[in-house]
Amino acid sequence: MKNERKVLRNKSILIGVTGGVAAYKAVDLIRRLREEGSSVTVIMTEAAKNFITPLSLEVASQNRVYSDLFSDPLAHIMLPANADIMVIAPATANIIGKFARGIADNLLSTSLLSFRGKLIIAPAMNWRMYENPIFQENLRYLLSRGVIQVGPEKGALACGEEGMGRMSGVSEIVESIKSSITKKDLVKEKVIVTAGPTREYFDPVRFISNRSSGRMGYAIASAALRRGAQVTLISGHSSLNPTKGVNFIPVETAADMLDAVNKELNLSTVLIMSAAVSDFMPAEKHKNKIEKSGELLLRLNKTPDILSEIGKKKNRPFIIGFAAETGGRIERAEKKLKEKNMDMIIFNDVTEAGSGFDVDTNRVVIIDKEKKIELPLLSKNSVADAILERLVEIRA
Ligand code: C5P
Repeated sequence: MKNERKVLRNKSILIGVTGGVAAYKAVDLIRRLREEGSSVTVIMTEAAKNFITPLSLEVASQNRVYSDLFSDPLAHIMLPANADIMVIAPATANIIGKFARGIADNLLSTSLLSFRGKLIIAPAMNWRMYENPIFQENLRYLLSRGVIQVGPEKGALACGEEGMGRMSGVSEIVESIKSSITKKDLVKEKVIVTAGPTREYFDPVRFISNRSSGRMGYAIASAALRRGAQVTLISGHSSLNPTKGVNFIPVETAADMLDAVNKELNLSTVLIMSAAVSDFMPAEKHKNKIEKSGELLLRLNKTPDILSEIGKKKNRPFIIGFAAETGGRIERAEKKLKEKNMDMIIFNDVTEAGSGFDVDTNRVVIIDKEKKIELPLLSKNSVADAILERLVEIRA
């Protein structure tokens, strides 16, 4: 999509693939990075060829795959010099040990020594190797030199054992690459983001809710974290996974969400209410499942308005709300901005194609006390960044 704010667009990424079972995940990693607009070149070690073929990596990267130090005598200088970012995934104990001690005995280890940019490593090995103090010392040394580590995770390992050593998932590695080149312009902020729908129960198994998927809020939480903020994500039911590093609080009802927001409010500097909070809740909640009979009448009461409650507080954070309207009634959003004492409101017309619920895109207008910024149809990730860019501008 035109105008997308893709962090990795036009970046040149050099990927090192070493000999671990997780080498197969490199194919997906390369594909994802290319989707983000990066160009990818791969160096693989001889050991990696036992796990994955050079052809798979060549097809995925649409580039030649390098592995021999001597058949391209200048590759160890030229490939790193032309790369913005270098990623080793999977990174074995062997390559980490070599790099920590400055050993340059193959194309990848030699390239690591000549590289001057951001380096991200995704370790993958058996837990006994990972916990070995010699390995840990090597790892600590690299981190003290500015190398960025992503993972590993605890889980089932290739050898059949459980433990720490499984390579991070591809999404997490991509997120870590993005984060490594994102300006940390929100480090001073403690941000609460609410997301998803609330569920208002009228018996133990039934509730009223809405179509919100949580995508907008989850995208905002990830983008804020990447920019260095401390992030709490308070979310109603969603099928999405919160990004690692986010303080995640799942809730169900509007009342739960209000409680959670109030608890987190202390020292928070920004509240972003992207949740689709139900406006109504059943007046009565039956203790037992209601029997099926001819007709059921539900009486509904208003839910607490979280934004208004927080807006009234004396030491309130900077408040950003959302106005999902049907029909282009932007004036309603402007009215809400004032009425609910917000600092910024994001207007979107949920009846417009590609906007609103359950889609990956949104067309919004960012309205604050000084400006109205009309954005084109963008991915929710780009909308999230646009909102945060305006936040940074206002708070500067
Ligand atoms: O007035 P309206 O419901 O359209 O306002 C939407 C904004 O208010 C959203 O940011 C939403 O998260 C928030 N909201 C709230 N508490 C409610 C209903 C909506 O904070 N009970």
